[in-house]
Amino acid sequence: MSITVSESRFRLDTADTTYLFQKTAFGHLESLHYGRKIPEGDVESLRYKHEIPFGSAVLYDESKDASYCLDELPLEWSGVGKGDFRTAPIEIRMPDGSFTCDFVYDSHRVETGAPKMQTLPQSTGEEAESLIVTLKDAVFPVYVDLIYTVYEKENVIARRAVVRNEAEESVLLNQIMSYSLDLMDRSYTVTTLSGAWIREAHVVERPLRAGALVNESTSHSQHGNNPALALAVQDATEESGDVYGFNLLYSGNHRTTVELGQAGIVRITGGVNPHCFLWELKKGESFETPEAVLTYSCRGKNGMSQNFHAFVQNRVVRGDWQKKERPILINNWEANFFQFRQNSLLRLAQQGKKLGCELFVLDDGWFGARNTDTAGLGDYTVNPKKLPNGLDGLGKRINEKGMQFGLWFEPENVNDDSDLYRAHPDWAIQRPNRKPSLGRHQKLLDLTKREVRDYIVENVTKILDSCPISYVKWDMNRKVSDFLDGAFLHRYLIGYYEVLTRIFRPRQQILFEGCASGGGRFDLGQLCFSQQIWSSDDTDPIERLKIQGGLSLFYPISTMGAHVSLAPHQQTLRNTPLSTRFAVAAFGAFGLELDPKDLTPIERKSLRAMLETYRTIRKTCQFGKFSRVETGNDYTVQWQAQTEKQTVVLRVKTIVPAAQKNDLLEVKGLSPEKMYTLEQVSTPLFVSGFGTLLKHILPVTIRSYSHLLLAVNKYLKMDDYKETYRASGAQFMAGIRLHRSFIGTGYSDKMHMQGDDSAMLFIITEE
Ligand code: DGJ
Repeated sequence: MSITVSESRFRLDTADTTYLFQKTAFGHLESLHYGRKIPEGDVESLRYKHEIPFGSAVLYDESKDASYCLDELPLEWSGVGKGDFRTAPIEIRMPDGSFTCDFVYDSHRVETGAPKMQTLPQSTGEEAESLIVTLKDAVFPVYVDLIYTVYEKENVIARRAVVRNEAEESVLLNQIMSYSLDLMDRSYTVTTLSGAWIREAHVVERPLRAGALVNESTSHSQHGNNPALALAVQDATEESGDVYGFNLLYSGNHRTTVELGQAGIVRITGGVNPHCFLWELKKGESFETPEAVLTYSCRGKNGMSQNFHAFVQNRVVRGDWQKKERPILINNWEANFFQFRQNSLLRLAQQGKKLGCELFVLDDGWFGARNTDTAGLGDYTVNPKKLPNGLDGLGKRINEKGMQFGLWFEPENVNDDSDLYRAHPDWAIQRPNRKPSLGRHQKLLDLTKREVRDYIVENVTKILDSCPISYVKWDMNRKVSDFLDGAFLHRYLIGYYEVLTRIFRPRQQILFEGCASGGGRFDLGQLCFSQQIWSSDDTDPIERLKIQGGLSLFYPISTMGAHVSLAPHQQTLRNTPLSTRFAVAAFGAFGLELDPKDLTPIERKSLRAMLETYRTIRKTCQFGKFSRVETGNDYTVQWQAQTEKQTVVLRVKTIVPAAQKNDLLEVKGLSPEKMYTLEQVSTPLFVSGFGTLLKHILPVTIRSYSHLLLAVNKYLKMDDYKETYRASGAQFMAGIRLHRSFIGTGYSDKMHMQGDDSAMLFIITEE
């Protein structure tokens, strides 16, 4: 039993956590504890003591209790106008025209499974237990159901709220959050994932001080601020300390507020962003908020991440690909952009196949007049000049090569220069009498309209069923503008999810990758449909350490699209080694985003070997237990992923110091007594990178600009020193001293010869 209700107390238990609250004498729900697992017992120690209220307090009912002040209580839910001055989870214009509302206990029930949502996606909790506590306004028949679903194994509590109006008069929702949680202040650090296009999901940490900190997006889930957020005690590390995590199964405008109030209580509320939000509820109508998910771990940030990873893999991601290793793909976008023909695609697929790719993805530009990003969006007719045998012809030829075929779509948008827009200008979101604002030369289609949704579903499914498509990339390249209000944006999302449901639920065999100009829609709402999401248009591995590393706080590795592209990189000009580009992308849903023609023969050979290795570690990297390992050095990033018998460790040094010491490689989570072998994955060193330094190891001097060097560089490589050890788990956990890196005083073949941005990939296998 994960839910126990006794007297006026509600207790939710997961494997490692307890969540406890009780009904007060006035019927409010007082939070007693959320955190490490505690035994049943006297809860007096957990009660917030407020026998003498703060000066200037507004007392709830002085005649009955002169110490009862809502502002000084940790609460599960609150209202407006009754003395709680913190962020309210609900702001609602009540039947009397006032915002004053007061929600008190009405009834409760416990159910097996998660109560079914009507409009939004939810986690899959058939065998989980749910507690539904119904609150009622003290005056009007306006109800709020607080729904808690307990995921025992994953240590996650899903929370959401449903408001129902039973009053004769309408009420107007101005703000309704999915949850409100009050914790005692412990000098928390708040972590969010923030950034921009090509700089998504960078970790931002801020100490929580008095007042409120807001993490939000006003244009759907966007590059700027991811809906996920963490709260960690000040000294928490990756391995230790108390950490709380919060996320939303929602791709729309979101807001999470963390507020430290005067009584030393931290209130966290999260849900639909109230920005321009107005929602009328007539008698008998209800509004359901998106599902929020909460977790806690006393095992540091990795503990929180691992809870979320298990939850997302087991309860959010679904379909045939839920737990299947992702195929190695080659995507033609950066190889071709809009300029391709059937033959060039087939050649690219052939080259990809030779390297070991298993899936060929045709990106933007295959339909209508889509030869630039200014035209064609909205049309679904194949461009016959580019693809004379149609998608079916191309798909079959790709299949004949032994590869799967995948296709790009951007169904939510339309270019003015398209047949669709010419036929239905009223289908685009715009305001009458205002010049619409464009994003990437396109307008957003109005998914609140039934006919628009039908058009998309009909056309996309026609294509999906007409040719052998086993993968879809669904792009969305603009933010929202010219909208009516926040309620419209929410309705758009409901329409979006309906479209995805109709297209993909009957086609579970399709591997679905979400995308929004890279990682603009990386959220759990999207992951209820797509098993993975393109993390960023930025494939520079050093940038990806921040992007994938940031995402890894809340999302599992299997959900992150990660590709090897060319260097120098198209957005940063950084010239990183091929081995680093490979090793970082290996911690993701892996693929290539390049034309192999742009690699030298020896680079292609090396990449082929890397892909061969990847197939042996793919399961571990994508689905193993993932940890970020602290190295004590800001310039060295270490990640590891672990299955029962195999551990894969990535170590990237972004800046190498002069006179380097021996590096210590610590592996986590092995069994101390068992024996393991460690083998480093070969790291090719391409000779041009060394320029005239080659004279130190060659009998002849080769100039860095000579034709000879270029010719040699095309066909020959050296391999960096490769570490191999056999030792006990205890020894690996204590740390292996790696061979010295180049320090400028000589050369040994037992030395590492890599510079800045170098990666080492180790495979540790249990004997
Ligand atoms: C943005 C995506 O992030 C890219 O990968 C690519 O699909 C382009 N759109 C195509 O227009």
